[in-house]
Amino acid sequence: MTDSLVTDRRAEERPAPDRRQHPRDVFVEFRDVHKAYGPKKVLQGVDLKVYRGEVLVILGGSGTGKSVTLRHMLGLEAPDSGQVLVEDEDITDLPEEELYRVRMKFGMLFQSGALFDSMTVFENVAFPLREHTDMTEEEVARAVREKLELVSLPNTEHLMPVDLSGGMRKRVGLARSIVLDPKMILYDEPTTGLDPITAQKINEMIIDLQSKLNVTSVVVTHDIQSAFSVGDRIAFLDQGVFEWVGTMEEARNSTHPGLRDFLKASAVTAAQPTSAES
Ligand SMILES: Nc1ncnc2c1ncn2[C@@H]1O[C@H](COP(=O)(O)OP(=O)(O)OP(=O)(O)O)[C@@H](O)[C@H]1O
Ligand SMILES: [Mg+2]
Repeated sequence: MTDSLVTDRRAEERPAPDRRQHPRDVFVEFRDVHKAYGPKKVLQGVDLKVYRGEVLVILGGSGTGKSVTLRHMLGLEAPDSGQVLVEDEDITDLPEEELYRVRMKFGMLFQSGALFDSMTVFENVAFPLREHTDMTEEEVARAVREKLELVSLPNTEHLMPVDLSGGMRKRVGLARSIVLDPKMILYDEPTTGLDPITAQKINEMIIDLQSKLNVTSVVVTHDIQSAFSVGDRIAFLDQGVFEWVGTMEEARNSTHPGLRDFLKASAVTAAQPTSAES
């Protein structure tokens, strides 16, 4: 049942890189990362590699630590023990002023979306440029327009967030997260709360940005359709560790009980009619 519901559209369109000939370059690595909040142990010995150029999907139930994992990549959280490496640099104990440089490598689409409601679309997307660069007004305008076109929102600069649909808000958030030309994009639940058609548009955008911007991406989701549509590999987070990591093909054929149950349950949920929110 799971297999018939999930289609790996991308695998048909784009052949996977030949991994035997090119040893894979690791962009982010977790080594035995532990993290607890008070008595609650969230990450309990996480090992993970994100390879340059891939889309890695992190799957897992609510509260398993998916967002916490992303925050460790950005150095927004430090592990209690273990290491996080970004492009071979151990960022685990870096002071805040050095983490700033590391964070510039990332664009993050936050789970909440978090646009500034009192600012226009233009000002929202321009915000990181004004904060982190000394670009002229003209350069800012050019960069903002270019990014809005990339997310298929031309001529929306003057609109306020309240005027936008849920899908458009996500795309403005996406334009803002790529405006500083990151090497890696982190998406936290990019399709949650969107109707299936809008969600599919966001999936297509993730694939499109991947090739146009030549980035590495991590997509956190519990939307199984989205996972199979955008991902090169899946990392399944359960009980504090990545219980299973492999390609989409391997995931589909996996006999790992936890992963199978998760895929099955998610496919059933995805098949239920839901009210569109966008
Ligand atoms: N700053 C914090 N202080 C205390 N507890 C936290 C903090 N951040 C995360 N947690 C706890 O860690 C666990 C994992 O949180 P996380 O946000 O990573 O879950 P998630 O997998 O992203 O879930 P969801 O799918 O609901 O977004 C949760 O139980 C959460 O309550
Ligand atoms: Mg989360």
